[in-house]
Amino acid sequence: MNPVLKTIQERSSIRRYKDTPLTEEELFLLKDAVLAAPTARNLQGLRYYFITDRSIIKQIDQRIMHHASDEMRASQKKRGSESFFYDAPLGVIITAGDQMWPGEDAGIAVGILSIAAQSMGLGNVILGLPFMAFQEDDPENCGKLLGFEEGEKFRIAIAIGHPDTEKAPHKKNFDLIKDF
Ligand SMILES: Cc1cc2nc3c(=O)[nH]c(=O)nc-3n(C[C@H](O)[C@H](O)[C@H](O)COP(=O)(O)O)c2cc1C
Repeated sequence: MNPVLKTIQERSSIRRYKDTPLTEEELFLLKDAVLAAPTARNLQGLRYYFITDRSIIKQIDQRIMHHASDEMRASQKKRGSESFFYDAPLGVIITAGDQMWPGEDAGIAVGILSIAAQSMGLGNVILGLPFMAFQEDDPENCGKLLGFEEGEKFRIAIAIGHPDTEKAPHKKNFDLIKDF
């Protein structure tokens, strides 16, 4: 199997990380990879917030927690961390305004980041829940913390770090594929 296909098959969501920070080179390689992601009409409307400062992640976590239902809190606790970023040394938040296909662009970018991280031996988990910290009708949302521009919206996030656990890839269901 070629190395890219192997990396795709080996990826799974990692929710426990070592306390080891990423090196400058690792951070650069991830940034370089995400900037290679395509965007519709090459509009390049995505913005990528690479957050290694734990105090910033903590503030985002606190805002998510502020909005979280009891069920969400319980399910997060079950997942083994108080942090929605699972104490990973890097959290990346991807935003976009309302240009064409913002969600699709962000999804492709986060997928590329996930596979890039996996190929570098780094664990990762894609994160939708942090959207709760960036809700537009919340005057205390974390957009100001990161300096979002007018109209810039949270789209998706990802936690990345050295894995401190193993998880088998999810079970594949070939019935989901329709051949004609
Ligand atoms: C769009 C999207 C949002 C997700 N949001 C979260 C999240 O907020 N928290 C979390 O722990 N996992 C999240 N996940 C991870 C999924 O739960 C995980 O990918 C799924 O259970 C399949 O497991 P696997 O990634 O190990 O194959 C998200 C995944 C995707 C694709």
